Amino acid sequence: MLIEKNKVLVSPSIIAGDLSTIGNDVKSFDSSVIDLLHMDVMDGNYVPNLTYGPGFIKDLKKHTDIPLDIHLMIEKPENSLEQYIDLDPWCLVIHYESTRFQARSLNLIKGYGIRSGLAINPGTPVENIFDLLPYCGLVLIMSVDPGFYGQSFMAGSVKRIEKLKKFIDDNKFDDIRIQVDGGITADNIKSVVDAGADIIVAGSSAFKNGDVTSNVRNLKKSAAG
Ligand code: DX5
Ligand code: ZN
Repeated sequence: MLIEKNKVLVSPSIIAGDLSTIGNDVKSFDSSVIDLLHMDVMDGNYVPNLTYGPGFIKDLKKHTDIPLDIHLMIEKPENSLEQYIDLDPWCLVIHYESTRFQARSLNLIKGYGIRSGLAINPGTPVENIFDLLPYCGLVLIMSVDPGFYGQSFMAGSVKRIEKLKKFIDDNKFDDIRIQVDGGITADNIKSVVDAGADIIVAGSSAFKNGDVTSNVRNLKKSAAG
């Protein structure tokens, strides 16, 4: 699949679905509408919740051609990065707050031709990651504290995206994508897209009532205004 630049992509977060049936459920996802599948890996340590690991993702991958967007919410990701690199995702995202070795970890991911992503929590100043942008293919602005789906969007995220976008443009980091994750709905998606986000994660709003393709289509309509 071609993932174009300057196009808003939507990435449904599967933890908002039913993980016991997701392998079958993804078969009905229309890949011309659903651009990526967002995988929230939580270790019960970096965040209080525990989800799934590389074995689950490997099995799920057999059931879909939609590229994977892996979001690691795990302490010291450098200890297990290779297991996720082996899954050959479209992007692999680590948290700024989860490691002392952000640049080394991002470079490792990049070296395998995978888009390297750096996520930051709402409490982390955006400026903290500016020096790390040369190693990033993507920055994920968390619009909720990570750990659970179904939380409310934090309005301050819009200004954080604008600030990051301006720095990226001013410094000509042309290949960096801006992802936003947490509490995105049809009511706020346009505000984050206008601010500069181009990869939108959607959990609850994508899985509500079970028709993920139609929900994502509606989110894209709302994003276009
Ligand atoms: C939160 C996760 C998100 C979450 C999104 O820690 O990283 O990806 O699943 O779900 P919603 O869109 O419901 O906030
Ligand atoms: Zn996520």
